[in-house]
Amino acid sequence: MPDLEGVKIAKDYHVDIPFANTKSFYVKGANNLDWGMKRHLANIFSPVSGNTVMFAFDHGYFMGSTAGLERLDLVVPNLSDYVDVLMGTRGALRACVPPDIRKGIALRVSSGSSMLNDDLSHEVLAVDIQDAIRMNADCMAVQVFIGADGQLASIDNLSRCINAGLSYSIPTMGVVAVGKDMERTDSYFKLATRIIAEMGVNIIKTYYCDNFEEVVAACPVPIVVAGGKKLPEQEALQMAYLSIQHGANGVDMGRNIFQSYHATAMAAAIGKIVHEKFTDKQAYEFYLDTINEKK
Ligand code: 5RP
Repeated sequence: MPDLEGVKIAKDYHVDIPFANTKSFYVKGANNLDWGMKRHLANIFSPVSGNTVMFAFDHGYFMGSTAGLERLDLVVPNLSDYVDVLMGTRGALRACVPPDIRKGIALRVSSGSSMLNDDLSHEVLAVDIQDAIRMNADCMAVQVFIGADGQLASIDNLSRCINAGLSYSIPTMGVVAVGKDMERTDSYFKLATRIIAEMGVNIIKTYYCDNFEEVVAACPVPIVVAGGKKLPEQEALQMAYLSIQHGANGVDMGRNIFQSYHATAMAAAIGKIVHEKFTDKQAYEFYLDTINEKK
């Protein structure tokens, strides 16, 4: 490990130059992966747009019953037509989602905290690779707590998941945690996403921030943006638009979909931004037209 003396601040991101190594496969950083890994990534990222809309409903793994997810058996199948990937726990998927659903699966495999804990940064790798294979997961999602007390354990969880995923050709998605003590600045997200990417993940989920294009430029694998707490629909669509405009390969939204009064219209509007180059304003008009048509 290099000494930290005289560490220079990175500054040359060449944000105007697209990622260079895209010779044989359209997903960023996946050129040298095997066929099975590429197959799973193609189940996640559209070969046309290169992007994805993930619907996250894994909140229960530490929040219990969340507003808008009281009935997973009703909410998830109702929204699945409007998204590309379902992100959930094995318990939710097995119990509430029909196995004939033809969507990508992002399987939440780390857990260990609850809303009763002050420090949420201590997790374990709760789902083994055998069950990820049984569930035909297209990626395994591991929370990583850079800068928190649980940092080392979360990197150990991530590394073991990546090692097993490489052995059985299932991609790993590193999820950047932003607990209350972690800042949502571009410098934090540049540090966290780069550390996680260097560990060998195939996808990173993080949050939108200022200078996001530099976060993307410095990250050699695709980034999907988490929605975070519920915003007014227009603001959530603007965040999705800015994320895509600044280089994200998709979004992984939960509350901004399932806590919307018109969840299916919201998911469809997000898809217009992610896959059809809609602006946030065009997507919001689409959203309003869709809900008015239903009246
Ligand atoms: C919860 C998660 C969620 O998958 C992620 O935060 C996306 O959901 P939301 O858009 O509601 O933030 O990791 O632990």
